[in-house]
Amino acid sequence: MMTKKMEQAINDQMQKEFYSSYLYLSMSAYCYENNLKGFGHWMKLQSQEETSHGMKFYEYMIARGNRVLLEPIEQPPHAFKSLTEVIQKSLEHEKKVTALLHRLYELTMKEKDYASQGILQWYINEQVEEEATVNEILQKLKLISDKSSAILYLDKEMGKRAP
Ligand code: FEO
Repeated sequence: MMTKKMEQAINDQMQKEFYSSYLYLSMSAYCYENNLKGFGHWMKLQSQEETSHGMKFYEYMIARGNRVLLEPIEQPPHAFKSLTEVIQKSLEHEKKVTALLHRLYELTMKEKDYASQGILQWYINEQVEEEATVNEILQKLKLISDKSSAILYLDKEMGKRAP
């Protein structure tokens, strides 16, 4: 069993993962609305991945004999100016999540919660991959600027993402 402080902090982080899922789902809807089916598909799968991140904490809390307390999930933004803004916001969001995970890791050191360090290391590694992927998409979008044929090509590529 983990300390109450750790329990609260992991419940908070679980909420962030479920919020991430909500955010990507909102971004997915924006992409579909703007006829970017490939991006819509990619974002929808990203949303599912974030749900699985939330569920990984959920299972972990139960395995440790701690209390899962689901917190309210606020409404995500739904009005975006452009596809580039969507991807920029996604990168900003991932950076925030990374910072929160680092803070949580620091707490495990204070609380001497070695088991939680193991699972958090998984999340931290996952963040490296997620930030790199989103950054790569952003850089491609910047390169192609608003050339619609290149955006359509990229959209097709995004649509190839497998679950
Ligand atoms: Fe689960 Fe993209 O952070």
